[in-house]
Amino acid sequence: MRKLFAIVLVCALIAGVGVGCKAKVGVVNLGGIFPMTGASATFGTSSKNGVAMAVEEFNTAGGAMVGGVKTTINYINEDDTGLPEVGASAAQKLINQDKVIGIIGAVMSKVSLAVAPIAQAAGVPEISPTSTNAKVTLVGDYIFRACFIDPFQGTVMANYVYNTLGLKTAAVLYDNGNDYNKGLAEYFKAGFEKLGGKVVDYEAFTDEAKTVDYKPQLTKIKAANPEFLYLPNYYGSVALILKQARGMGLNVPAGGGDGWDSPDLVKIGGTAVEGGIFSNHFSKDDKSPAVQQFVTKYTTKYGEAPDALAALAYDAAGLFLDAFKKSGSIKGSDIRDAMKNTSFVGIGGAYKFDENRDPIKSAVIIKIVNGQQTYLATVNP
Ligand code: PHE
Repeated sequence: MRKLFAIVLVCALIAGVGVGCKAKVGVVNLGGIFPMTGASATFGTSSKNGVAMAVEEFNTAGGAMVGGVKTTINYINEDDTGLPEVGASAAQKLINQDKVIGIIGAVMSKVSLAVAPIAQAAGVPEISPTSTNAKVTLVGDYIFRACFIDPFQGTVMANYVYNTLGLKTAAVLYDNGNDYNKGLAEYFKAGFEKLGGKVVDYEAFTDEAKTVDYKPQLTKIKAANPEFLYLPNYYGSVALILKQARGMGLNVPAGGGDGWDSPDLVKIGGTAVEGGIFSNHFSKDDKSPAVQQFVTKYTTKYGEAPDALAALAYDAAGLFLDAFKKSGSIKGSDIRDAMKNTSFVGIGGAYKFDENRDPIKSAVIIKIVNGQQTYLATVNP
């Protein structure tokens, strides 16, 4: 009920006619929670850009009709700095103060896991564009995501390394303080061993945003002599780990997951990340007309090509706004129900949620070649 007051009725100013209540126009707030600063800030920039573009298009197309009132979106973007507690405060602020009708975010699974219980308790739908840890949507029926989950991408990489690259031994180095990194490490290991591969060393550290020295773990890994190095971490630490590994003469092929997707991976890692392979949600080289149209639109608007975070944030916001429009309501439960039954067609095709509000989606495998992301393969679930 309180949220109804968030609809602001304004009178249109008609030039030349004077001031008149020509049309009733409503505005409601939509929140976003992303890491705009900190060690993974490119995630935030891309995500915010994607959401902002979807909101702009929604408003330009006329918004939604809510109780006979044409209603558009005011987007409020919050910085979680990559920390769960900061994300949680942002969620409280968006819900209690801004009375948002929904939340797009977060990126990092550990932050989404802190935001989701707050959104769920308030009955505010949340859709994470990119949090892949399986637990995120299990928090409750108001929590959705626009991406595949880690059991899938961990297995995809295990298969690729074992079967396509033909490498039979691997070492893993991961951050055990983040559900994403920890989960992905486990799924890769399980998948690799199931195929007959051997994980010859399994090493952890505690906080990738703070760790600068990976040599103690890399020394053990080098001694174990793996054929492949799996790094299910975010780009900042991946770049640092590989620089140190190459510096120590550990030159085996390396790979990871979607956390590698950043223009800063190569900027920080240079030649040390060359040849790296990782699973991801999206490739700008995808020849489908929907992808190419998005790439052109996004590049024109922001001056650089979209990464997976931009693409999925655009889709997540588009899916949410489509449900808002179809429900014709600002009530959380109405929008949630419309989301559950979505048939929204995004950049990568039609979305359909399973019983856990996770969409079924394929993965792409990307390789860094001459410092550029190069598309290798698409893997269907
Ligand atoms: N999947 C990561 C997580 O859950 C976030 C991420 C997605 C990072 C896509 C980069 C690209 O924490």
